[in-house]
Amino acid sequence: MKIMLNGVPVLLDAGRDDATVDVLRDGLGLTGAKAACRTGVCGACTVMVDGTPQASCLLPAAAVEGRQVTTAEGLDHPVQRAFAVHDGMQCGYCTPGFVVEAAAFVDRWRDEHGDTTPPRERIAAALAGHLCRCGAYAGIYAAVAAACRGEHDDGAGAPARVEAMDKVTGRARYTTDVRLDGQFEGVIIRSARAHARVVEVKVDGAHTVDLLPPDRVVRYAGQPVAAVAAPTRGQALALAEGARIVYDPIPAALDDAPGAPPVYDESSRRHAPSSSEGLNLPGGWNGNVKGPFTMASRRSRTARRRIEAARRRADPLLVTGTFTTAVQVHTPLEPHACVARWDDRGDLHLHLSTQTVGLAAEQAAKRWDLTVDRVHVVTDHVGGGFGAKAGITAEAVAAVELARVCGAPVRVVLSRAEELTDAGNRPGTRTDIALLTDARGDLAALAVDVRGRGGVAVGSAVAVFARLMYGTAPRLLRDSDVVTNEPPGTPFRGPGAPPMLWALEQAVDEAAHRLGEDPVALRRRWDGNRKRHALYDWVAGLPVWLDRPATGSQTGRFRRGVGVAAANWAYMLDPATEVELEVRGDVVVARTTVQDIGTGTRTVIAEVLGEELGLPPERIRVEIGRTGTVHGPPSIGSRTTTSVAPAARDAARRLRAQGLADGRRVVGRRRGDRRGYITPVAVAGMALGRGFSGAVHVTEVEVDTRLGVIRPLRVWAGIAVGHIYTERLARGQCEGGIVQGIGYALHEERHVDPVTGAVLTTNLEDYRIPGIGDTPEMVVHFHQDGWDHVNGGGVGVGEVSTIGVAASVGNAVHNATGWRPRDLPIRPDRLLEGIRG
Ligand code: FES
Repeated sequence: MKIMLNGVPVLLDAGRDDATVDVLRDGLGLTGAKAACRTGVCGACTVMVDGTPQASCLLPAAAVEGRQVTTAEGLDHPVQRAFAVHDGMQCGYCTPGFVVEAAAFVDRWRDEHGDTTPPRERIAAALAGHLCRCGAYAGIYAAVAAACRGEHDDGAGAPARVEAMDKVTGRARYTTDVRLDGQFEGVIIRSARAHARVVEVKVDGAHTVDLLPPDRVVRYAGQPVAAVAAPTRGQALALAEGARIVYDPIPAALDDAPGAPPVYDESSRRHAPSSSEGLNLPGGWNGNVKGPFTMASRRSRTARRRIEAARRRADPLLVTGTFTTAVQVHTPLEPHACVARWDDRGDLHLHLSTQTVGLAAEQAAKRWDLTVDRVHVVTDHVGGGFGAKAGITAEAVAAVELARVCGAPVRVVLSRAEELTDAGNRPGTRTDIALLTDARGDLAALAVDVRGRGGVAVGSAVAVFARLMYGTAPRLLRDSDVVTNEPPGTPFRGPGAPPMLWALEQAVDEAAHRLGEDPVALRRRWDGNRKRHALYDWVAGLPVWLDRPATGSQTGRFRRGVGVAAANWAYMLDPATEVELEVRGDVVVARTTVQDIGTGTRTVIAEVLGEELGLPPERIRVEIGRTGTVHGPPSIGSRTTTSVAPAARDAARRLRAQGLADGRRVVGRRRGDRRGYITPVAVAGMALGRGFSGAVHVTEVEVDTRLGVIRPLRVWAGIAVGHIYTERLARGQCEGGIVQGIGYALHEERHVDPVTGAVLTTNLEDYRIPGIGDTPEMVVHFHQDGWDHVNGGGVGVGEVSTIGVAASVGNAVHNATGWRPRDLPIRPDRLLEGIRG
């Protein structure tokens, strides 16, 4: 069939029922339309058909025959420049779909209203069919409004990030876009059972590999069993669907009831995966419970004694409660993906969607018995990760093993259902908290007992974070894992902290309420962190805080509430980070083994070099996202910028000292901080630096007491991380953190079938992440003092900017209604039940 594609006639060799997105991508090699959800929910595959935006994943090729199809690559519209200038993106995976839709809206708006600013609601309605998991909605609003005013008609404005134009034109190449000659497509065959020994796997394909653990036991529905490859994905899927797996069933533990069947026996426990980003807390096992780990404290007995005495006397200043959080799924818009190839010398080549290029190479070398220099990893662009794309994960194992048996490159891309089932989740939690205030209004004791539920994974570390805030009052902190036959939890942006703050920050708020004290003033009194003091002072002067309603004072259907929450996060870095610079003609090329997952690493490096060397952007090129160069940090633990920027500055200074002669090469190092680090040596490339970053979030909500809907209206985020390297990008990170925190607070909840253990929320309609219409107006305030001891003067912003958001929403709901939510997400049914008593 024939179409006009981006203004050029094209003959298609496609079945009439083939999805247009597949025809464009696989048949014609375009990359702008992304197949991210395949259910028409996320909008990443949007193209124009005869000038009308359409989701090309739901559009059969027959429907575009003879018509004009325009993708982001063929678009030449001012809104693309507007997205680049206003930074309407982070990872950029959703961006081509957004710009296609936005272009149509901008044209319509200007036809009807001239060059004017549309109301926010009109922009939200126009883009309601698109999702951005990074939460870049504030930049998107700004970009669309500017384009409607005609501000970028002449291509004016400098892009906010180095690769912005590649992202708005669909040219940026992600792992899912990689297509090598002779490439096969691989599909993972997964367990239908929650717990069973696999007796036999029969697959009618020549190219299959086994993915079972040595004991051949599957411990959750969705666990990889095998993988199969074929020349096309359709063929591979058909082979996978025809696979016959013979199981020997084992009773499954699908809840945390005492006496549930064991998930592990004594010998297999040590192979349990970890949901922790660091070392697992120690603790013995009792059935399916690991722990509790009790944080050693000489004063924990005092805390217990004081709290028990307060309970006996029914002390009104003892705040107690049980708070729960649902499982939150990372679901980056680019699914986990790997293209693996073995070359003739036995070297392994990986295109991998990863947050850890260097670590992935090290793990691959170990797993496949190679020296690390024989593993070559390429990660040009990464469509989000949030903690789920660290090291070698299942899709990479499948691709590498299949590439060996196929003797050809193999690509494995997870489907959205796989992504939502077995590609990372923040474990659910149940937290019992008791917080005692004495007659002087000081914190007298704190007890926190957390049971983390990370499926087959262990590594819950939640209560330990309560050690780090509000002084040195006695406290009893306990963490346990309750293991079940459900998919494993993995680290997720600020692992452990959001559930802790959900309980702690509401308990602190309740204490202030009972004392009749301003919650900000009480926090300032209890909190020894000077940087947060500056944030409390900022918040205390905000009109929204000064004018907040009295708690529970309102009647009527719609009630407004304002809530606050503080947050604390560790400063982590990779002290071995290096950046190499090479002069090539009149261009300085920078390289290090780091990746840009949307945080703007390329841009940070380029700006530091520009400042130090006095060069314009066109004379600096940043080549990252691949091995074969000097050591760089993984993008986990908010450590990328604080590690790489000082190393880039050091390299630039060396180069400047030596002169920019053609061919000159220098290597700069991330020099140490004054007073060194808390950890004497780096463990797994990570050192713990001195000092804690801080945040204080204030959220204003409107509660519809008839429908139970909570609408976040505005959020103010005070962030204390020291020097901000690239202001617009750091602001975008914080805004995205707020959006993800709102998702955690109000919408996101993975559901598992209580009988079979199968994940039920396997698409982006059933697993709801925030859309543009859910996004409040946001103000981000950076407090940049207090980090002079740090080389570079600034630490990471990614995690501290999200971890307290849900608690601020909870406190806002309490302020509006007088009812305190305890369970996340705060669904309409929960709210209605709560306020009706
Ligand atoms: Fe939208 Fe990452 S920028 S999904």
